Amino acid sequence: MKSTIVSMVVAAGLLVAGSALAADMPAAAKKNNCVACHAVDKKVVGPAWGDVAKKYKGDAGAAAHLDGVISKGGKGVWGPMPMPPNPKVTAEERKELIDFILGL
Ligand code: HEC
Repeated sequence: MKSTIVSMVVAAGLLVAGSALAADMPAAAKKNNCVACHAVDKKVVGPAWGDVAKKYKGDAGAAAHLDGVISKGGKGVWGPMPMPPNPKVTAEERKELIDFILGL
């Protein structure tokens, strides 16, 4: 009986965590503060990542371009506001972020 209650609580917790992840920014975006300027579905300071995915759909060079923008910064693509460089984001995190963004 006790173990049934425990497993139900664990299952409920997993459900909540799963749905939060689907609608939410990846951990690397929170850790590196991308969320201060970006959201998935609306423009904040920078473009909505959903719009970024649309813009680069079918572009074979997109991942390499975005990798450079994330680490070194970028400007002039979406408007007058530049994207600051993020030298602390690791190559692994950049890949995770780019896969997430282009997969939207
Ligand atoms: C201080 C605000 C700010 C932060 C923090 C920020 N961005 Fe940006 N980002 C921008 C702006 C502004 C642009 C638009 C730049 C342009 O027009 O070229 C942009 C553009 C982008 C683009 C599209 C680039 C292109 O050339 O199309 C991507 C992808 C992106 N950001 C990802 C990230 C990621 C990942 C992080 C976290 C590591 C991050 N941004 C953090 C402001 C920010």
